[in-house]
Amino acid sequence: MERNVIVGQSGGPTAAINSSLAGVYRTAKDRGAKKVYGMLHGVQGLLEEKYIDLADHIKTELDAELLKRTPAAFLGSCRYKLPEIHENRDVYDKIFAILDKLDIEAFIYIGGNDSMDTIKKLSDYAIITGHPTRFIGCPKTIDNDLALTDHTPGYGSAAKYIGTSMKEIIRDGFCLEYEKGIVTIVEVMGRNAGWLTGATALSEGEDCEGPDLIYLPEIPFDLKKFGDKVRKLLEKKTSIVVAVSEGIRTDDGTYVCELGNSIDFVDAFGHKQLSGTASYLASFIAGEIGCKTRAIELSTLQRSASHAASRVDILEAYQVGGAAVKAADEGDSGKMVVLQRLSDDPYQCGTEVKDVHKIANDEKLVPRDWVNKEGTYVTSEFISYVRPLIQGDVSPVMVDGIPRHLYTPKELSHK
Ligand code: F6P
Repeated sequence: MERNVIVGQSGGPTAAINSSLAGVYRTAKDRGAKKVYGMLHGVQGLLEEKYIDLADHIKTELDAELLKRTPAAFLGSCRYKLPEIHENRDVYDKIFAILDKLDIEAFIYIGGNDSMDTIKKLSDYAIITGHPTRFIGCPKTIDNDLALTDHTPGYGSAAKYIGTSMKEIIRDGFCLEYEKGIVTIVEVMGRNAGWLTGATALSEGEDCEGPDLIYLPEIPFDLKKFGDKVRKLLEKKTSIVVAVSEGIRTDDGTYVCELGNSIDFVDAFGHKQLSGTASYLASFIAGEIGCKTRAIELSTLQRSASHAASRVDILEAYQVGGAAVKAADEGDSGKMVVLQRLSDDPYQCGTEVKDVHKIANDEKLVPRDWVNKEGTYVTSEFISYVRPLIQGDVSPVMVDGIPRHLYTPKELSHK
């Protein structure tokens, strides 16, 4: 590389997203980039010329190691949708003028399917205008719903945390006895894809039965059947634990969380704010059966639990960051790095690049035959797919009993 690189983070954060940032930084420097800039709050911040020089923040090897162990987007994130090129060229001209000013050779965007829309549009604009900057996507999302890649960095760590927490929740349920039993509903993120909710089954093993029921968003949810199932289970067990996706919907497409309250917040990509599914279902069961219920929303804990990160995930996140820079340096543009699984046992995975037009805005769902016939649990194929991704640990750097993170850039944390 002869000139500069700029990197941004976009969409929902993960426990591994900063490991990709560390991979981008290290590889860009190793390949000769003069400066590696970080956009603050992705392309939205770039439009306001908000960026930092990463060399001011990653000064030592220890800083890089801390960055890999720091959850949430170090640079700040955004959910910003670029207009279509024909709708508003001014936005594009502004971005490209900033890139020219910073002498940018490669633009790397770490994100999910919505963020790949940004790479797609910017790389298209570069082709239209004959601009030499290269645009490469670096995959990231706990949802694991990106097309053409075996899995996405961020998913393995979230799955590990979810499987572990589920196991602890199940244990807790058996401690206290309630006259009519207790039903605990655990709500997991993932919008329209059930990869994360299915990961609750990782709790199952010799010492744990796993959740009693798992409901993925891919399969329409029937409230009556659910009530009947729980009632039947309570005849045999004192504590029932149910995993539900935040995005489960009834037959007519209504989100279960909308049955309780209407959803007012919708983001730039048209995604409704999903929350409250567990609490709606817990009230429903309490009303129907009269037993004790509890609703647990794992919420942001599942995507920021870097203390429980998967080693495989953190290493792969670093690897895809490096592969993105390498691809740009070798002349690719309009592509995203994908992970390609070579074998399950021993687990081996490599990287490739694929056309971002085939990835942006698409959603990879859990195959129907990885869920049982009734739609209430995942199959052994699902477990075999996820298991390798949660292996190994990354020890946090503990200071005074609490994990140490790399300082948030003050440009982000102060007004
Ligand atoms: O994009 C990943 C994700 O974590 C989804 O699983 C979830 O629905 C969404 O982000 C939540 O986004 P926000 O933090 O913007 O509410």
